[in-house]
Amino acid sequence: MTKDRRSRAWYGKLDKDGFIHRSWMKNQGFPDDVFDGRPIIGICNTWSELTPCNSGLRDLAEGVKRGVWEAGGFPVEFPVMSLGETQMKPTAMLFRNLLAMDVEESIRAYGIDGVVLLGGCDKTTPGQLMGAASVDLPSIVVSSGPMLNGKWQGKDIGSGTDVWKFSEAVRAGDMTLQDFMNAESGMSRSKGVCMTMGTASTMASLVEAMGMSLPTNAALPAVDARRMALAHLTGKRIVEMVEEDLKPSDILTKEAFENAILANAAVGGSTNAVVHLLALAGRVGVDLSLDDFEIGREIPLLVNCMPSGKYLMEDFCYAGGMPVVLKELADKGHLRSAKSVLGGDIAAYAEGAECYNSDVIKSYDDPVKPAAGLMVLRGNLAPNGAIVKPSAATERLLEHEGEAYVFESIEDLKANIDREDLPVTPDTILVLKGCGPKGYPGMPEVGNMPIPRKLVTQGVRDMIRVSDARMSGTAFGTVVLHVSPEAQAGGTLALVKTGDRIKVSGSQGILELLVDDAELQARRDAWHPDDPHYTRGYAKLYIDHVLQADKGADLDFLVGKDTRPVTRESH
Ligand code: FES
Repeated sequence: MTKDRRSRAWYGKLDKDGFIHRSWMKNQGFPDDVFDGRPIIGICNTWSELTPCNSGLRDLAEGVKRGVWEAGGFPVEFPVMSLGETQMKPTAMLFRNLLAMDVEESIRAYGIDGVVLLGGCDKTTPGQLMGAASVDLPSIVVSSGPMLNGKWQGKDIGSGTDVWKFSEAVRAGDMTLQDFMNAESGMSRSKGVCMTMGTASTMASLVEAMGMSLPTNAALPAVDARRMALAHLTGKRIVEMVEEDLKPSDILTKEAFENAILANAAVGGSTNAVVHLLALAGRVGVDLSLDDFEIGREIPLLVNCMPSGKYLMEDFCYAGGMPVVLKELADKGHLRSAKSVLGGDIAAYAEGAECYNSDVIKSYDDPVKPAAGLMVLRGNLAPNGAIVKPSAATERLLEHEGEAYVFESIEDLKANIDREDLPVTPDTILVLKGCGPKGYPGMPEVGNMPIPRKLVTQGVRDMIRVSDARMSGTAFGTVVLHVSPEAQAGGTLALVKTGDRIKVSGSQGILELLVDDAELQARRDAWHPDDPHYTRGYAKLYIDHVLQADKGADLDFLVGKDTRPVTRESH
C-alpha cells in the first residue's frame, strides 16, 4: 500500500492536476515507477560559479542522488540563490535572509518529502538551515568541505587569515606588492570553502555538533573522495529519515544549540556563529539569547587552527575532525543529550573517536588556550550586548580603558586610516559607526578595521576596535563586534565622539562609554539617522524589517515556521 506522504498531493492524484505534475516531470525521462509513492527527495543546491566555495556541489549532488536511488527514493535537484562571500557587494549577509526565503518557499511549493541541503560558503549554510527549519520537513546537510591547505613559498597559508596578515605587512613595508600578488594562487588551490576555521568551517562544525549532518561532514576536504562517499550515505539516510518522519524540530532542540555553543568555543569558531545560531533558533522556536553563549566561556580551545591557532582544516580532518572534539567534550560531561539525523543521541558521533595528531586537536586538559568561548559585553554602549572573541584577541587589551577615535562611516575610515597625522596611539580605541544590519545595510565584515598606517609601521598589530559590524571568521584581533542597538537604529554607538573615554572589561563583561547621561541626552536630541542608500526592492524590505544583531538579524516576519500543507493548485 502506498504511504500517504506529502509528495502524493502532487504526484499521487489521478486527475488533471496529477497529470500535469507528472507529465511535465516525465519530459526528463523519468518512468512511471518513480511516481509509485516512493519518497521524493529534494536536493537543494547552492552551486554557483560565483560562489567558488560551493563550486564542487554539483559533483556532490550526484553522490547524494546515488544514495537516494539506492535507498529506494526519487532524487530531484533544484537550485536556490547562492551567496558568494568574497564576490558579493555590499555584503553576502544582506542576502542570507533572502536565501532563507528562497529555500523555505521552494521546499514548501514543491512536492518533496525530505531535503538534502548542499551548502558551504559562509551564509549558505545558515540561510539553508533557516529556510528548511521554517518548513520542517526531514532535512540533512552535506557541506562543500574545505579547500586543500594553502601553500606559498614552502609554507602553509590560510584563507582569509593570511590575507589580513599579508595586507598589513604590505602596508607596513614588510612585504612587496609582487609577493602579495603571487600568494593569491597558492592560497586557493582546490574547490571548497576557506580552509581556516572561518565562518564556513565553523558552521559546518556546528552543524555536525548539532547532529544535522552525518559525522565527519565538517572537515573532510572538498576534493577528498570520502566526501563523495559521505554524500552518497547522506542520500541513503534522508530516505530513511522521511520514513521515520525525523524533522529539524526533533533535532534542533535547546540542547542541540547548547552543543553548538560549546563546540564553537572548542574549535575557536567564528563570531558569526552567534547571529546565525540566534536566527536559526528563532525559526525553530528555541528560546536562545546572547546570555546562553556564556555556557561556552570556560570551554578551552582544543582545535589548533587559524585564526586562533596555527593549522588548517586539512590537518584537522587528518587528526580526526569533529568526532574527536565531541569526544573531548563528552568525556568532561559537557555534551548535552540531543538527537542527531541518525535518530540516536549525538554522543554516538563521539564514540570510538581517536585523535591522530594531538598538536592539531589538543586535549581538554592540555588545550591550545583556556576559556575560549565568546565573551558577551554589555553597558551603556551596548545595552543589548556586543561580543568579542578572546581566543583571537590580545589578552592585555581585554581589560582596557582608552580614548576613542571615531570613524563616522566606512568611507570616513577608508579615507583617513592611512593619514600620518591621525591622532591615535596603540592605546586608542577605534570606533566605527554605520555598519550594522540597517546601517550598511547587511552588517558587513568590516569590524576588524585595519591598524592605522602610522602605527602598523611601528609594529603595532592589534588595538581595540569597536563597531556594530561583524568580522570575518578568518580574522583576529581585539575586536568588539555586533554592538546592539546599532548606530543607524539610534544606539549609543551613534553618539560616541573622538576623545570620549571607553572602558572594556572582558572579565566583567563591560563595554561602557564614560560620558555622563546629561551629555549623552543632549547628543541624542541632536542626532538623526542617515538617509538610506537603498530605497526599493529587497534591500528596502531588509532595512525596514531586519532585527538587531542580538536577535540574529533575521527579518521580523520570518521568525517561526509554517508547517501547514499547501492545498491550492496552480491550474
Ligand atoms: Fe566562501 Fe570563505 S569565502 S567559505
